[in-house]
This record gives sequence, C-alpha cells and structure tokens, in this order.
Amino acid sequence: MAAFAFDIDGVLKHGKSHILPGANRVLNVLSGRTPEVLAQKVPFLLMTNGGGQTEDERLKALEGDFGVQFSKNQLVQSHTPLQDYVSEYRDKPVLVCGGEGDAARSVAHSYGLKQAYLLQDLVAWRGNVWDRYHLTAAEESFVRRDIDFSNIPFSAIFVIHDAGLDWALATQVITELLNSDGGRMGTQRQRKKGVPDGKEIPLILTNPDFIWPTDYPVPRFGMGAFRTGLDAVYKELTGCDLPYTQFGKPHTTTYKFAESMLRRHLADIGGNPADPLSGEPADPADNPASDIAGANAYGWVSLLVRTGVYAGGEPAHRPTQIVDNVEDGVMWALKREGLV
Ligand code: G3P
Ligand code: MG
Repeated sequence: MAAFAFDIDGVLKHGKSHILPGANRVLNVLSGRTPEVLAQKVPFLLMTNGGGQTEDERLKALEGDFGVQFSKNQLVQSHTPLQDYVSEYRDKPVLVCGGEGDAARSVAHSYGLKQAYLLQDLVAWRGNVWDRYHLTAAEESFVRRDIDFSNIPFSAIFVIHDAGLDWALATQVITELLNSDGGRMGTQRQRKKGVPDGKEIPLILTNPDFIWPTDYPVPRFGMGAFRTGLDAVYKELTGCDLPYTQFGKPHTTTYKFAESMLRRHLADIGGNPADPLSGEPADPADNPASDIAGANAYGWVSLLVRTGVYAGGEPAHRPTQIVDNVEDGVMWALKREGLV
C-alpha cells in the first residue's frame, strides 16, 4: 500500500516562508484534490526534526503554507514522540528549553506536563544565574516570578528546539543541573573528575541535526551543534561524556511513533490500519545523516532530494533513489506502485 512520510526543511520548505517547487502540488495530489492525476487519497504525514510549537499551532501554519487541510495524525515534530514518554514527569518539575517566547511551556502543557519551567523563569528568579542574559519586555510578560527555585528538585530537562534558545544560558543551566544535588539550582554534588556517578537527572534532546537547510545559501547549525558545544563544556568541567537521550530522525523511536500515527491517519481516510506497511512509506528527504539513515534502518523507501543539505556526490547513507525534488520523488514512488 502506498504511503508517504515527508521531511519538511529542504524538501517542502526553505526557512519560515519559502515553499519549494512542487510541494503544494504533491500534497494536493495525495490529498485526492487532483483526481485527473490520482483518483484516490494516499496516506501521508509530515515528519520533521523541527519543532518549537504545539502540533495544533504548527498544523495551522502548515495549512496556511500549502493550502491543504491536515489532520492531527499527519504531523510528527522532533518532540511529538515525547507524548508517549513524559507520563512519569506529569506532576514533577521539569525544565523545558527552546522555542520562541514561552512556546516550550505550551508544548509541555499540551503533553500533560504540569510543572514546566523555562530558562527565562530561572533568570527571573536570580539574574546572576547567567548575568549576560537580560529578559526582554516580552519575556517579562510570561516569566514565572512566584517560584523559589532553590526548593525545586528538577526531575528532567527537555530541549525541544534550537530556535529561541540562548546557547550560552542553556549551556550554563543544563551543566549546573546535571552536576547539582538532586536537580536543585544553586547546588553542586561531590563527584570525582572523570568518573560518571549516574546521579544526573535525565537530559532529553529532540533533534540531532548538526546542520539544516534554510533560505540562506549555506546550511545553518542545528540542535546537534548546540549539543556538540554542550558536550565539550560538560567534558571540560567533569571529565565525562554528556549523558543524554536523543530523539528525532534517524532514531527508531521517532519512526515507530510515525508509523503508528500513519496507521491512525490511514483509518481516518477509510483505509485498513492493519494493512502491511512493510517496504513503504516513501520518505522524500534531504539529509543523509538523519533522514536517509533513519528511513533505511526502519525499512522505508528513502528518496534523497537535491533541494536541501545533500549537495551531490556519494551520500553518507545510500538512499533507495536520488531525485531532483519532492515532485520527482512522489511521481517516482507512485509509478513504482502502479498508481500513475
Ligand atoms: O530544525 C529543523 C531541522 O533540523 C531539520 O528539519 O524538517 O529537515 O527534518 P527537517
Ligand atoms: Mg530536511
């Protein structure tokens, strides 16, 4: 059965507003809105290492971008799989980092996390947490000023996006919490340099991409670059590797989550969710290190486009097919299925 999982950056869009050629057309074709090309609907979802907004907000924005109605079972952002992961933290204090303004708190609340605090809340508590950072008027409007964080035992740290993330403030606070006594700010536990003691609170990072394509001519650093810097600082301080859990493509957790969502979407459009998906869906994507590696490992059809990170030559991970752009990729896969 044909199905698709579309990468966003470098395949459908560049940056915030630049829609790539063919993107609108293929999403309309698969949504059954151009019967002259394809009479039936084909299940698909968007699967991005991006994020930083609630899924509802992002779906609304994407509908504006592509003029297509999406269901809630058609979007996997880097942090969406956390929905199946965070139940144990529901009533515990957690630090959520990244996203514009207080978006991280909105995302956390949408996953049921009731005590979600931001880096800016810590600066509001004590400016000398990182005195190079000064709250903006906008931040003043949403920070929590009613919390004494010396009494708050953080149970985990979630970094959900690299936009709106002050890498220096985040590096300082995350390193402090990982070295703290029981997740309390302003404390430091005794530990031997170079000897991991396993007393760190969990650090969850949702996007491993070191670089990603935007509307700037050269790819930009992503959350993977932030992690690289954080790891170097943590190692310099403790002599140990940064302890963290990684979500996002190419990690299996994300593909498993996407597959179950695709089945729910299949049911939404009248298909049989029990239908075998093996060897499918087709995954038009631009980043060999995350997208192609992930799709290959999960047994999906990987279609490497030339409109993003990949700039020609032998890719680090060999795709099922290299295609010029998303439209070439979709038509190649539909032909393969005998649908066009
Ligand atoms: O921050 C987003 C970037 O890492 C890549 O996003 O859509 O290409 O997976 P995407
Ligand atoms: Mg991409």
